[in-house]
Amino acid sequence: MINILVCVSGGGTNLEAIFKALEAGKIKNAKITSVISNNPNAYALERARNHGVLGAGVSPKDYSDREEFNRALLNEIKKSNPDLIVLAGFLVNVPASIIREYKNRIINIHPSLIPSFCGKGFYGLKVHEGVLNRGVKVTGATVHFVDEGIDTGKILAQKAVCVQEGDTPEILQKRVMEEAEWIILPDTISKIANGEIKIGE
Ligand code: GRF
Repeated sequence: MINILVCVSGGGTNLEAIFKALEAGKIKNAKITSVISNNPNAYALERARNHGVLGAGVSPKDYSDREEFNRALLNEIKKSNPDLIVLAGFLVNVPASIIREYKNRIINIHPSLIPSFCGKGFYGLKVHEGVLNRGVKVTGATVHFVDEGIDTGKILAQKAVCVQEGDTPEILQKRVMEEAEWIILPDTISKIANGEIKIGE
């Protein structure tokens, strides 16, 4: 049984997809033991409560500088002793110290086909704006290990999604979530939990 910590900042639909997959038995040998948000008001924390997990808010606003916040974040992470950390819409630059401590145990979902529309500045709706501005016909989502770069870690899963005539960033974001993110994130966690994808190596 692996213990999963999910880090979130916003709505938490990816978190919800993971809970649903666990409850439906699609992910076996795993449980979400904790949820951390940098935004104490994130709706994702309410979703966690609805599934019986008491989430924790660790806000940068409560600390005098980044170093102190990073230490508090690491302390909160350590409390749950996670085997796997899932960044599911976590809008925080995870410090190198945490990445090193949990090497190949942190995965992230990114809403494009890496290496397109990723890296600095590509987060949230900006990713989908970039896709529409460039006029590509296919986008998608990627699950990858988190290393010290931005969206540069080893790719674990990808799924393509078609861009359609008349798409707005919001419409495309929703389609990428429904057709790709909510599928490949639980699926990757399932593969990790059953040993098909090795972590921590
Ligand atoms: C998703 O698009 C995810 O790919 C990105 O942030 C968004 C989070 O959405 N990293 P939600 O909070 O899971 O609804």
